[in-house]
Amino acid sequence: MASLTLRVTILHALRKAHPTAWVIRAIPLVLAYLPALLRALRDSQNWHFLALPPVARIHANARKRYLSNVRLLSRSGKEPIMARIFCVANQKGGVGKTTTAVNLAAGLAISGAQTLLVDLDPQCNATTGLGKPPTASHPLVHCAPIRQAVCHTETPQLDLLPGSRSFRDVELLTRDDPHQSARLREHLISGFSAYDIVLIDCPPSLGPLTRTALSSSSEVMMPIQCEYFAMEGLTQMIAVIREVMQDPASQLQFGGIVLTMYDHTLELTYEVDEEVRDFFGEIVFQTVIPRDVAVSEAPSHGKSVIDYAPRSRGARAYVELCMEVLERE
Ligand SMILES: Nc1ncnc2c1ncn2[C@@H]1O[C@H](COP(=O)(O)OP(=O)(O)O)[C@@H](O)[C@H]1O
Ligand SMILES: [Mg+2]
Repeated sequence: MASLTLRVTILHALRKAHPTAWVIRAIPLVLAYLPALLRALRDSQNWHFLALPPVARIHANARKRYLSNVRLLSRSGKEPIMARIFCVANQKGGVGKTTTAVNLAAGLAISGAQTLLVDLDPQCNATTGLGKPPTASHPLVHCAPIRQAVCHTETPQLDLLPGSRSFRDVELLTRDDPHQSARLREHLISGFSAYDIVLIDCPPSLGPLTRTALSSSSEVMMPIQCEYFAMEGLTQMIAVIREVMQDPASQLQFGGIVLTMYDHTLELTYEVDEEVRDFFGEIVFQTVIPRDVAVSEAPSHGKSVIDYAPRSRGARAYVELCMEVLERE
């Protein structure tokens, strides 16, 4: 006992006299534990958030709410909870529909929600953007069970229903026939019961495929690009959404509008922001998605921006958007 007391006293004295010696002694200890620490970080589902810079960590409370919201969504007991089904739509092309669908899906999946991304666009950008090949024939056309057609992605808990580029399939799927639309809707919804959240990436049109997606969804999310003709054509889009909402079989609500490719250096961006918020009010998300090169690079690596560049401004914005989406439920 006396010798232990003596050693502790000597070590204390040493620490006071040679503070650097303690740092040197600590190095092997840190090195020994480093691989285990890195492994724990890599295996943790939420390591992306740990990798975010401090500005994102400031939102620790929001993140806590985000995660607890997701847990509330998860199924418990035998009664399946109806998934939230988001239709990401805008009849304009190039406004950020696919980018928003892919990154929101990834963010929600990383947070713990069992998520399905449905690629309904014959361009199949959501499919290739997640590093998967388009299917030879669309599962909706040959009425194969959705569960069999779904594939896992690199992001844990994110599944994908891939799209098809087959001209025959596109022709069949876009036939303006109310019976076919009802059949497609039933078939599509039949595959959703295993998921907490489903996102449908729509083609840039107001045709039958977009209408089927709208009538299969519980919320419509509309990305608007901050550019000159941002609001042009939105009245037709809103008219179609209203039409679908009036159908008694539809559960559709207005989920929200997200401003994409936001450029803080452009006066035009602020003008569009003001105009959109004046017109649509509170349904416009507070979070805006900045124009960020990482966002446009990520699909060429077959990844969401949250997986590809978790520290980027684009990734942080999509994480913020995920939180807002969950808070709005
Ligand atoms: N926030 C962003 N920053 C930079 N590029 C973006 C951003 N959002 C989308 N893009 C790019 O803009 C293009 C169109 O986006 P996309 O999501 O495919 O639009 P849509 O699905 O509406 O046609 C793509 O090349 C995409 O990489
Ligand atoms: Mg697209």
